[in-house]
Amino acid sequence: MPCNYQLILDNLMDLTHEEFVHSSSIGQKELSESEFVTSHTDTTVTVERWMHDIEAPPFWLKNMRDKFPGFSGRVDRWQIIRFEAPSTICIDVGVAKAGTGAPEGDRSQGVNGYVMNTITPETARSSHYFWSFQRNYRLDSQLITTQLRDGVHGVFGEDEAMLAAQQAAIDANPDYEFYSLNIDAGGMWVRRILERMLLAEGRDHAPAPRRGAQLVR
Ligand SMILES: [Fe+2]
Repeated sequence: MPCNYQLILDNLMDLTHEEFVHSSSIGQKELSESEFVTSHTDTTVTVERWMHDIEAPPFWLKNMRDKFPGFSGRVDRWQIIRFEAPSTICIDVGVAKAGTGAPEGDRSQGVNGYVMNTITPETARSSHYFWSFQRNYRLDSQLITTQLRDGVHGVFGEDEAMLAAQQAAIDANPDYEFYSLNIDAGGMWVRRILERMLLAEGRDHAPAPRRGAQLVR
């Protein structure tokens, strides 16, 4: 990825970007309209968001129909983002038929995916980005595996284009003032953990594009 690794972490810790960057597959307005809860430990940050009784966006409607042929109707959707220091983010995502108990723990009427992301810095402006996507339904279907791999690959291509442009904008405007919004809470905790770990290693600041820089949305 042609960007600093922290931009990738920022992007994954705030999935409201799906509404704008992935509008044809997993984006929907309820992402930025819904509440979220952030928690953290010394080495982890968790951001949890639920969207209740909504229309499923195209990617999730397809997956619901793969498990429940002919499905139509509303869903409860979740995103549970978990950062594990220094640079792994596992995301528990899915939808279930609305009102069937998914928020309380019964996901039997839904489809569930896990997105695993690990990022290794290469230079201050480039990173190695490893990802995989797992599902827990129709495991015998190579067709669904191939469709999911191609679909997620396309979605991540949209992230790459946006992140490359963001890095270029940062490089072109070194004195630009960045600011944080409340939806950056998860990413801000990640940066605090990383800065503390880097200080413990004897570095005086994080190798970010700009110290403390945040995404501008
Ligand atoms: Fe994305």
